[in-house]
Amino acid sequence: MSRYRVALIGTGGIVTSHLEAIAALSDRLELVAAVDQNAARVESVCAQAGIPRAYTDAETMLAAEHPDLVHILTPPATHLPLTLAALDAGAWVWCEKPLCRSLAEFDQIAAAEARTRCYVSTVFQWRFGSAVEHLRRLAGEQLLGRPLVAVCQTLWYRDAAYYAVPWRGRFATETGGPTATLGIHLMDLLLWLWGEWEEVQATVATLDRLIQVEDVSMALVRFESGALGSIVNSALSPRQESYLRLDYQRATAEVKTLYRYANADWRFTALPGAEGDALAAAWQAIPCDRIGSHTAQLTLLLDSMDRNERPLVSGAEARRIIEFIASLYKSAFTRQPVRRGAITPGDPFYASMNGAPYDD
Ligand SMILES: NC(=O)c1ccc[n+]([C@@H]2O[C@H](COP(=O)([O-])OP(=O)(O)OC[C@H]3O[C@@H](n4cnc5c(N)ncnc54)[C@H](O)[C@@H]3O)[C@@H](O)[C@H]2O)c1
Repeated sequence: MSRYRVALIGTGGIVTSHLEAIAALSDRLELVAAVDQNAARVESVCAQAGIPRAYTDAETMLAAEHPDLVHILTPPATHLPLTLAALDAGAWVWCEKPLCRSLAEFDQIAAAEARTRCYVSTVFQWRFGSAVEHLRRLAGEQLLGRPLVAVCQTLWYRDAAYYAVPWRGRFATETGGPTATLGIHLMDLLLWLWGEWEEVQATVATLDRLIQVEDVSMALVRFESGALGSIVNSALSPRQESYLRLDYQRATAEVKTLYRYANADWRFTALPGAEGDALAAAWQAIPCDRIGSHTAQLTLLLDSMDRNERPLVSGAEARRIIEFIASLYKSAFTRQPVRRGAITPGDPFYASMNGAPYDD
């Protein structure tokens, strides 16, 4: 097992989760450098976390440090150029969500992966908790029956000060509102658990913030299996909650939390009867209690590096949520249902989430 040289690009709010994950895996990772355009910020983070070298420019860092792995934690509009630069420097990339601002950008990243033979994975830490792993196992063993009805609600509160940060509030810089940046975690989880989606119908609105992007979206999704899901993504909800409810033929699995879940945040209700009792017992037999965290995902990413194989949440597994969000916005802006696969090069929603060219 190799010990990889890792570097961070971006040392803002989310850096703490990455530092925590790297510290937990220090036998497998050597944190060699951090980069931020804000010199005071990167120097202070390096001093506090004991990172040996600080840079204000990613290209300079990549040329000097030759990292094996780069974590990108900058605003969404910078993800594409920084990802391409890291790949071209021979590094794997672990990039914060949303990976990029459009399907066109995603496809550029995919082409760069093929060219450089390095991989790009998106941070979706919610996929990696023990409760979700266990649920997937039970579903995979056909114990739950077919998925039928889903409720997926990200009801968060983001005030005017949150949107006063210059990169927030515009499609070109933030990619979208709560759909693209907040609810993306729970929607990604739903789509990953329930297999391919087929069609989405959506509405978005900007009700109470002075921003270009939406502050609420609502959507109905139909899956290939025939299952239906209802989605709400809000930045306007004073009592904040993330709620995912999954009704299968034989049981309901629900999680109610805010940003992280442990096993205790899940509730599992099987149909009454002997079969249901056995199912409830199977649910209780979760082998461990692991939070869906950056550390959990990074552990598996390093395993993929050891084996030099495509990591989880990359390739088609990362494109799915970008396509779903582009389709949700297209449905909302055109007031038409949108089917998976319908947005192709030449479609305005292939190049941007609001169907208008990004002004950068
Ligand atoms: N996985 C999660 O749960 C989670 C939570 C919060 C944020 N995020 C994501 O993390 C990313 C960053 O969010 P944040 O809240 O930390 O933002 P932030 O504004 O707090 O920090 C961004 C930092 O990037 C720096 N920066 C900008 N452009 C740069 C460039 N080209 N080169 C180097 N540095 C640059 C800025 O100076 C700033 O310090 C976003 O994509 C966001 O969606 C993920």
